[in-house]
Formats: sequence, structure tokens, C-alpha cells
Amino acid sequence: MKASDIPGGPKRGEILCRLSEIEDGMAREFSYRHGDEMRDIFIHRMGDEIYSYENSCPHAFIPLNMDQGHFIDKTGAYFICQNHGALFDIKNGLCVAGPCNGQSLTIIDVELKEGNIIAL
Ligand code: FES
Repeated sequence: MKASDIPGGPKRGEILCRLSEIEDGMAREFSYRHGDEMRDIFIHRMGDEIYSYENSCPHAFIPLNMDQGHFIDKTGAYFICQNHGALFDIKNGLCVAGPCNGQSLTIIDVELKEGNIIAL
């Protein structure tokens, strides 16, 4: 889903933040409200790469994390849902273990350009 398609979300082309504002191995979270609806996304940084998803676990549709910006498991290889331990492939959001095995996080389309993370 495009970031600009999130109800109440950023406009297409809007700069969300700079890559340098996200600590390597951590994520930055954004929340958007539209009426009573609240949508959360996170943008995870791995070196010069970013991976952006809606922060909603397909098991129970609640946020994966409990600690701000922290989505990675102890091995550093997967996102982990801290509620019931589902593991997700960082690069495509596919759940590879846990109660929502085979389901996926929703990818949020953003673009990294000249150090800026931009809503598509
Ligand atoms: S809510 Fe994520 S594994 Fe249950």
C-alpha cells in the first residue's frame, strides 16, 4: 500500500524523515489518525536499506512491538511480534513462524532518495 493511501497519512512526495534519523538496526514509527481510525507504520533501517510496514500483526491486528523503534528478534534476522512471538522476514514481511505463519505484514511504499525517506 502506498503511504499516501493511508487515511490521514502523508501526502505523496512528503518527506517523512531522513535516513540518518533512524539508528541502524532500529525503526522509526509514525502514527496517522483519520476520524476514529488510527494507523501506525514503522520504517526499519538496515545499513543503507529501509523496510517499511504497517505496524499491525496479521495474527491479532495489534502493533508488533512494545519498545519504541524495536522490531528485531535476538538473532537480528527477523522482525518479531512481541505479543505471541511470530517471526517475519525483514525484506518481504512474510510470517515464517508463529500463529500467523504464511501471512504477511502490509508493505508501505516509501522511497529513499538523497537520504530522505519520501511517501509514495
Ligand atoms: S499478535 Fe502478533 S503473534 Fe499474536
